[in-house]
This record gives sequence, C-alpha cells and structure tokens, in this order.
Amino acid sequence: MVRISVILSLLVFVFAFQSTSLINAPQNIVDGHLDSIRHMMQWRAKEMKKIRQWIINHSDSTLPFTPTLFHFSSGIPSDSDFITPSFFVMDSLFHKEYVELYRNPSITQYNNLISVCESCHNTWCPGPLRLIKKLYITSQPE
Ligand code: HEC
Repeated sequence: MVRISVILSLLVFVFAFQSTSLINAPQNIVDGHLDSIRHMMQWRAKEMKKIRQWIINHSDSTLPFTPTLFHFSSGIPSDSDFITPSFFVMDSLFHKEYVELYRNPSITQYNNLISVCESCHNTWCPGPLRLIKKLYITSQPE
C-alpha cells in the first residue's frame, strides 16, 4: 500500500511539472495537441513586442528569432461564432505576412502584419484593439 501511494504521488508530481513547463508555448506546437486561440493570440502578441523592439533598435537587419508557424484557426475558439470563411481568409493573410516579415524584416512589413491583426480585430474581437494599435512602429520617439 505504501509503495502504491509513493508511485501515485510521483506521477502527480511528474504531471504537474509537465503542465507548468508548457505554459509559455502554444501546446499545438510543442506536442501536437490543440490549444485555445486566446492562448495563441497572447503568445503572438508577446512575440510581436519582442520583434518590435528588435526592429526599433536594429532597423531592418535579419531577425535573430526563429519563426513559429501555426494558424490561429487550428486552435480552440472561446466562441465558435467567429469561425467563418472570412476568418480563415484573414488567418491565411496573417500567416503569409508573418512569413514575409521573417524573410524580409522592415518597419513597413512589420506594420503590414500589425494591420492584419487590427483588421481582424475590427471585425471579430475589438477588445484588444488598443493594445494592437500600440504595436505599430511610428516615427514618434518612444
Ligand atoms: C484571423 C483573425 C485574427 C488575427 C489575424 C489576429 N487576431 Fe487576435 N483574436 C482574434 C479572435 C477571434 C480572438 C478571440 C479568441 C477567442 O476568444 O477564442 C482574438 C484574441 C486576441 C487577444 C485576447 C486574448 C485574451 O487574453 O483573451 C489578443 C491580445 C489578441 N487577439 C492579439 C492579437 C495580435 C497582437 C495579433 C497580431 C499579431 C492578432 N491578435 C491577430 C482574431 C484575430
């Protein structure tokens, strides 16, 4: 009996450890499981802040980050109403501009990508628009 409970608590420990180690990356990338679209968005927003800072400091030199490819439409929505054909169109456009940003980083391309975030959010999810507008790189000093 004692041994079984030791094994059980070890298992609980291992599972707890595994789930905390996945918190920062969308799980569909890490282990093939679906993740929530919300989590994927938060992940991308963080990535954009990082890229924005790099481009401001280094202009259009190559990005020192690896692109992490996934489609938002592969995730689990909090509300299935926005999963429409035009959502897929926007999602593909985002993907195309994202790949292009890594290929040819520039302020213009970065701002193009953010404008896709903005148009999609204008249609489906206006909540984060303030945050998204702050992601643009403008000529105003920081
Ligand atoms: C294809 C459309 C689309 C694109 C492109 C898009 N979003 Fe979203 N975003 C959504 C939708 C829809 C939700 C709501 C998801 C849900 O509730 O399941 C969302 C949610 C969010 C959230 C809220 C997450 C939370 O905590 O609730 C943030 C922040 C966000 N997006 C930022 C961004 C940023 C930054 C970009 C560009 C890098 C972006 N989005 C691109 C459609 C889009």
